[in-house]
Amino acid sequence: MSASPYFSGRHVFVAGGTSGINLGLAQAFARAGAHVTVISRSPDKVQAAADGLRALGAQALGISADVRDPAAVEAALRQAHARFGDIDVLISGAAGNFIAPAAELSPNGFKTVVDIDLNGTFHVLRLAYPLLKKPGASIINISAPQGVNPTMYQVHACAAKAGIDMMTRVLAMEWGGAGVRVNAIAPGPIADTEGMRRLAPSPEALAKAVASVPLQRMGTLQDVAHMALFLASPQAGYVTGAVIPVDGGAALGGGRDMRASYQPRGA
Ligand code: NAP
Ligand code: COA
Repeated sequence: MSASPYFSGRHVFVAGGTSGINLGLAQAFARAGAHVTVISRSPDKVQAAADGLRALGAQALGISADVRDPAAVEAALRQAHARFGDIDVLISGAAGNFIAPAAELSPNGFKTVVDIDLNGTFHVLRLAYPLLKKPGASIINISAPQGVNPTMYQVHACAAKAGIDMMTRVLAMEWGGAGVRVNAIAPGPIADTEGMRRLAPSPEALAKAVASVPLQRMGTLQDVAHMALFLASPQAGYVTGAVIPVDGGAALGGGRDMRASYQPRGA
C-alpha cells in the first residue's frame, strides 16, 4: 500500500490506534499519505505509535485519552482538529476483552468492557461528528464476530459489539443526509494480536480457532487494512450502514460439524 492521490493530506483519526489491528490501520493510511491522529490510554504506546507513523513519512499526532471519558475524547478531537483540520476518516476501535463465564463476571467487569467498546464508540462518534468533513467523511467502527455470533464466556464483548453493529446502522441513517457514511469491519481471528493472545492463549486453542475459519488461516493486519482503505475511499461511496466481516468466513458459524458422521450413500 503506497501513497494514494485520494488519501494524500487527508486527516485520519484512530481511537485505540496504538497497537494491533487499529495501529495496522493507522499505518496503512499513513503509507497512503494521510495525516494520522492516534489516541489511547498509555502515554508510552501513544508515543511509540506516533513515532512509528512518522517513520513511515506521515505527519502524525499521538494523544493520551481514555474513550470512557467524554471530556478527554473531546479534548483530543479538538487538539487533532487544530493540527490537521476536519476529519476525513474516523476509526473507532478501542476495546477491552477477556474470557469470563457470565456467572463469575462482576458487574464492574461487564460494565468495563461495555464502557470501553460501546459507550467509548458512542463518545468518539458523537463528539467527532461536528469536526468531520461533511460531506465525504467516512466512519469505520471495529466490531467483531461476537456482534452476531452468540459466544459463551463472552457475554460482555457480545453485548458491546452487537451494540456497535446497531449503532453503525442507526448513525448511517441519521448522518447519511449530511453525506457521512458509517460502516463497521468485523475482523475474524487476526494473527499476532492482543485479542488472539487473550481469546486463544494456547497452541491448541489457536489451532481450533483456525479450524473454524472456512479459509483455514488466520487473518493479517493487511487483510483488515485493505477493507478499511476501500470503505474510506470514493469506490465505497454508496456503501453505508454495512457491518462487513473480514474473517475468512468465520462468522458464517454454521451448525454442528457433521463431516465425521457422514456416510456416503450406498457405502
Ligand atoms: P489491542 O492491540 O489491545 O488494541 C486495543 C487498542 O485500544 C489499544 O491501542 C489500546 O491502547 C486501546 N484501548 C483500550 N482501552 C482503551 C480505552 N479505554 N481508551 C482508549 N483506548 C483504549 O487489541 P487488538 O486485538 O488489535 O484489537 C483491536 C480491535 O479489533 C478491537 O476493537 C477488537 O475488539 C477488534 N477485534 C480484534 C480481533 C483479533 O483477532 N485481535 C478480532 C475481532 C475484532 P491502550 O492500552 O494504550 O489504551
Ligand atoms: N476475568 C474476569 N473479570 C475481569 C478480568 C478477567 N480476566 N479482567 C478484569 N476483570 C474485571 C476486574 O476484576 C474489574 O472488576 P471488579 O472491580 O469487580 O474486580 C473490572 O473487570 C475492571 O478491571 P480493571 O483491571 O480495573 O479495568 P481496566 O479499565 O484497568 O482495564 C480491561 C480494562 C480489564 C479490559 C483490560 O484487560 C484492558 O485494559 N484491556 C485492553 C487490551 C485488550 O483487552 N485487548 C484486546 C482487545 S479485543
